[in-house]
Amino acid sequence: MKALVLTPATRDVSVRELPVPEPSNGEVLIRVHAVALNPVDANYVAHPLAEQEQRVIGTDFAGVVTAVGPDLGSSSDLRAKVGARVAGFHQGACSTNDRPGAFAEYITAPYDLLWAVPDGMTLEAASTVSMCGLTAAQGVFTRLGFPCPFDDQTAPSVDSSTSDVINVLIYSASSSLGLYAAQTVQLAARSFGCKIRLIGTASPSKHEFLRQEPYRYDVLIDYHDPNWVEKVKEATEGKGIDRAVDCISEGETVYKVHDTLNENGKLAVFRGPKGGQYDPTRLRIKPIYGSVWEGLGHEIGYNGITIPANPEARVFATKFFNFLSTAATDGKVKLEPNPVRLMPGGLERIVPDGFALLGSGMLLERSTSRSEDYMRPISGEKLVYRIVDEGK
Ligand SMILES: NC(=O)c1ccc[n+]([C@@H]2O[C@H](COP(=O)([O-])OP(=O)(O)OC[C@H]3O[C@@H](n4cnc5c(N)ncnc54)[C@H](OP(=O)(O)O)[C@@H]3O)[C@@H](O)[C@H]2O)c1
Repeated sequence: MKALVLTPATRDVSVRELPVPEPSNGEVLIRVHAVALNPVDANYVAHPLAEQEQRVIGTDFAGVVTAVGPDLGSSSDLRAKVGARVAGFHQGACSTNDRPGAFAEYITAPYDLLWAVPDGMTLEAASTVSMCGLTAAQGVFTRLGFPCPFDDQTAPSVDSSTSDVINVLIYSASSSLGLYAAQTVQLAARSFGCKIRLIGTASPSKHEFLRQEPYRYDVLIDYHDPNWVEKVKEATEGKGIDRAVDCISEGETVYKVHDTLNENGKLAVFRGPKGGQYDPTRLRIKPIYGSVWEGLGHEIGYNGITIPANPEARVFATKFFNFLSTAATDGKVKLEPNPVRLMPGGLERIVPDGFALLGSGMLLERSTSRSEDYMRPISGEKLVYRIVDEGK
């Protein structure tokens, strides 16, 4: 099979021939039809963590099960059957641990960390959901304490019975993460009857889109406006933000989002102080950071630290994927995928085009000088590559 392989020592990435992997107990073999790109994919190619001679890179995938592990032959689970349409994510080269990534024609994965893609949803669309969807769910439910419709194990800190409006800010509402964070907050509000005021920041060209289902923002503010922090506070009628999600989490964004909080506010961030270049000691309320990889349940060697295997995070991830899978039986999609920008070419175009758009460091430093339409800046969408056409 073909796979996109990084040589960490030289930072060279190329399409190479590798043996098709075999599923172990609890795993399935998946023919990958589509992969979606995330900033980490490009970041850890430019700044490799991996020390092995070669690593298959890539995070988000969707495809079709072509074989199952020895113990799954008689499983009744929808995701453990040959022919099942599934999606999920791998850590790829974003750790020192030698686990293969998703940018390959075939991959294996534990069936319980996959979700069943409903009929009517393309595999291209499904490939956009898993990693950022779980990141948003971890942020909104586990860290910010919204009541969770698919997991009652964590005690919520948001009081859904209060008659007060809960003011919620999503900074960078048009990012992939922001599109899932808004849906996740709306899910909590709808499931538990919380009264929320959803406030987002984004470029004005995205405001109309973000007012519609499934995001349903009440207030949208242009983050280019130097007074956006004041405008957010005004929108809360002076009460300040109760729960904030900073989908950029780089330097000034963390300080400014922090400035919108009231004294009991909470702030979820998605880059740590080192990667995001901010100093938490400057802040009255400590930002809550977490890494989505914990959901995969392995120990992670990452940016000079070792994060131990986190069984609770894995259980949460399996509940999240079970929840998404219910759409395959009840027909109700639980999280709408990001709009897809289908990029030309396959594995061989991911680095020269996709990674050029993502940049190799801070999101706020992205720039492109290419004139092709598909090379316009990323906004409210996910870059997707088709690996194999559905039906082939
Ligand atoms: N901790 C974790 O586990 C985890 C998991 C997933 C992602 N992340 C991190 O989360 C961040 C977001 O990832 P993503 O995939 O959601 O990004 P993305 O979709 O590629 O972000 C694109 C968005 O960035 C916005 N943007 C560009 N410049 C901006 C600025 N100066 N201020 C505010 N917004 C700006 C744009 O908004 P407009 O178009 O409206 O201008 C655009 O919609 C990344 O740093 C990623 O590494 C962390």
